[in-house]
Amino acid sequence: MLQYKKIEIELNEGNEDITKAVLELNNAFPKEEILLDVDKNKIIVNLRLLDLEKFKEKLNEITEKHNLSFQNPFTQIIYEIESIKSYGIKSGKRLYVDYDKERKVKNRKQKIEDRGKYFYARDNNFSKINNELPKDFENKIICADSEEFLKRLPDNCIDLIFTSPPYNFGLDYENHKDGINWNAYFDKLFGIFKECIRILKYGGRIIVNVQPLFSDYIPIHHIISNFFMENKMIWRAEILWDKHNYNAKYTAWGSWKSPSNPYLKYTWEFLEVFSKGDLKHEGDSKNADITDEEFKKWVYAKWDISPERNMKEFGHPAMFPEELVKRVLKLFSFENDIVLDPFNGVGTTTKVAKQLNRRFLGIDISEEYTKKAIERLKGISYQKKL
Ligand SMILES: C[S@@+](CC[C@H](N)C(=O)[O-])C[C@H]1O[C@@H](n2cnc3c(N)ncnc32)[C@H](O)[C@@H]1O
Repeated sequence: MLQYKKIEIELNEGNEDITKAVLELNNAFPKEEILLDVDKNKIIVNLRLLDLEKFKEKLNEITEKHNLSFQNPFTQIIYEIESIKSYGIKSGKRLYVDYDKERKVKNRKQKIEDRGKYFYARDNNFSKINNELPKDFENKIICADSEEFLKRLPDNCIDLIFTSPPYNFGLDYENHKDGINWNAYFDKLFGIFKECIRILKYGGRIIVNVQPLFSDYIPIHHIISNFFMENKMIWRAEILWDKHNYNAKYTAWGSWKSPSNPYLKYTWEFLEVFSKGDLKHEGDSKNADITDEEFKKWVYAKWDISPERNMKEFGHPAMFPEELVKRVLKLFSFENDIVLDPFNGVGTTTKVAKQLNRRFLGIDISEEYTKKAIERLKGISYQKKL
């Protein structure tokens, strides 16, 4: 007997047109792939294999033909099907049952060992002994050059670093020249990142948001990832932050309508995620504050989040949107953890950290941005005793 994945949609009341529409759908698709039943006040969708785009097209056609209202049950069916994020692909269609059986690799664990999972990070010398961040540095926003300041912190004292360095695009920062020779840029950046690795706890994470300068053909995200891997950090994930900013001109660089030198457009940035020593970060499960829904949604590594809209108000050209920081902190850290941003700008990381009951430390070289970051913390109090 064929196995199906079942979806049930409640009907407010039986409707002749709905029954006709279900019949037409069943005629349009093989019953081995999808089969719909109307049973009293329910539509039952038996789902096995589906060309989703074709199914949507057919539904649109049927909806129009039967003049079904905008809020018809088929809209809900599409929504439910699109919410299923685990499926296999077979002949270009989505396979909803037994797809993991088909892919099953025998002796998976042994094969992972044989291949050498994160082999580049295995022979690290990281100490497993974690230290407390001195109280003097806890919940502070500091104006300093991070390369100098971080030297004052003990080894292994920070749970999570989330940051976005200047991208070297030539942006107008208050107190920092953006747009210098690439070698000088990477020397400075890696001086700061070396300190970041040292002060991260064993099992701690560093997440770096970057946008490559495509017009200079410099893949900063790859160069940074390479640096961390050479320094024995585990590259654990890459998140695409899609900002959907389609405002770039078509012919700014390269060639128009010719293969001679086409220039591609990007509406997204990258978040590269690294772990020190171990993928697992120790913490009390009572301090995990991510909800079921958030977890299910955010483990899909493409995040659609609009850019921060209030940059003018803060006088800063490259701020994080708060939603981005919220997702990173809830997915990768526990309440009460210590969160550091060594390029804190006007303090989006530190503000959200406080709102989410994390301890924090923010550092920026600009006095003006530091003052604004401190200002943004006013009126936010911890919701829990840390
Ligand atoms: C992309 S911005 C970060 C913005 C921040 N995420 C926010 O939401 O406001 C980079 C920041 O790095 C700061 N910066 C540049 N060089 C620095 C250094 N050596 N030490 C500390 N901060 C530095 C700049 O002043 C700038 O505010």
